[in-house]
Amino acid sequence: MYESLSSLLSSDLNFHDKNSTYSSHAIHAFAAKFPPQLPRAFIESLTNPGDVVLDPMSGSGTTILEAYLLNRRGVGCDIDPLAVKMARVKTTPLEVDCFQLIPEVIRNAVNILKDEAKVNQAISSRFDRKTKEFIDYWFFPETQKELMALLLAIDNYEKGPVRELLEVIFSSIIVTKSGGVSRARDLAHSRPHLDPEKKPRNAIKAFEQRLLKFAPIIAALPVHDYPATIKQCNAKSLSIKDNSVHLVMTSPPYANAIDYMRANKFSLVWLGMSISDLGKLRSKYIGNEATGKMKMEMLPEYTESILSSLMAKDKKKEAVLRKYYMEMRDAMREMYRVLIPGHYAILVVGTSIMRGVDVKTPQCLGDIARTLGFQLETIQSRELDRDRRMMPFGNGNTHIEQRMVTEEVIILKKP
Ligand SMILES: C[S@@+](CC[C@H](N)C(=O)[O-])C[C@H]1O[C@@H](n2cnc3c(N)ncnc32)[C@H](O)[C@@H]1O
Repeated sequence: MYESLSSLLSSDLNFHDKNSTYSSHAIHAFAAKFPPQLPRAFIESLTNPGDVVLDPMSGSGTTILEAYLLNRRGVGCDIDPLAVKMARVKTTPLEVDCFQLIPEVIRNAVNILKDEAKVNQAISSRFDRKTKEFIDYWFFPETQKELMALLLAIDNYEKGPVRELLEVIFSSIIVTKSGGVSRARDLAHSRPHLDPEKKPRNAIKAFEQRLLKFAPIIAALPVHDYPATIKQCNAKSLSIKDNSVHLVMTSPPYANAIDYMRANKFSLVWLGMSISDLGKLRSKYIGNEATGKMKMEMLPEYTESILSSLMAKDKKKEAVLRKYYMEMRDAMREMYRVLIPGHYAILVVGTSIMRGVDVKTPQCLGDIARTLGFQLETIQSRELDRDRRMMPFGNGNTHIEQRMVTEEVIILKKP
């Protein structure tokens, strides 16, 4: 526990030697998670039990789980439907006997798999042509059957926490660092490639192992007075009352960096979304590169100076970056609106290198935040644990271009 914000900021914010997989944190892989100790430190230091802690880009739900474990009211929002599901599962205690549930689901899946006609019929009727082409490219035929048998077994459960847990476990055997039961390699952290060496793995076995590990953890979550609320929504327009949040703790997407959907779509196609649904959703992600319909607006002076340096190298990239800063401005405006005066927004973000230009993301976000009325208290560096929080390569001309080694913690206060 830290006595004050300044003692927290003078302490080590790296947390490299700390366990980041306790409780339900490790239920599903997710690119660019922050270590749970980071939100925990700010939640403990800046809020009291019962206070509202908002993460408007909650990703896998690290902040929200920490808020939950510390008996705060965690409120999460993310545009990514898979992120929303995993964050909800991570923070919702299960009211079910795992030792009954697990063998029941596995038995059902194994029985369904024996009925080949039923499984084939489901595979041919569930997906549209484009989605099926995607599935055929990335999954062996036998894996498709096992996954479909699992899905049909999951379909037996009504919408609610049990079903959502099963869906997240299902997804966790596909979206992993190694590409899980798909034919991709390195799915969670970079652009997927088909791995011709990969052999099929039994998906039902993989599912059973993950369920045996995580269902008891979810069932053992403490039951608190303040359940977490996590919704699929856009950080640029939150349905949260003005002046009602005690702390915003978030890590926004980096500029021009991770394409979250690229990995998550490997399981979202199984969970009911089509490739074209996913294409439409993609444009709503902050940091998305499609600048077509966007009306470009002026930003504050320091940010404009960075944009000019990039403009000199690449006009298109300048538009991508301008759009990112405009979208982050809209998201920070919402953070400002919902925060109670005198309270803080903590943003954790690193810079990116675009066409060799350091686009100074933390400084520009600080610059933009000030024009919205925030006081910029400080920007503090933390070192990334390269083994854990994998960060993208800079997206420039050279290959091994500066894999990011630090990121910044931006401390904003609503006066
Ligand atoms: C760096 S990740 C957050 C990781 C999170 N702190 C964790 O520990 O898992 C950024 C998140 O922003 C989300 N995001 C992108 N655009 C968004 C938008 N317009 N509204 C809400 N969330 C958005 C992405 O889906 C992604 O989950």
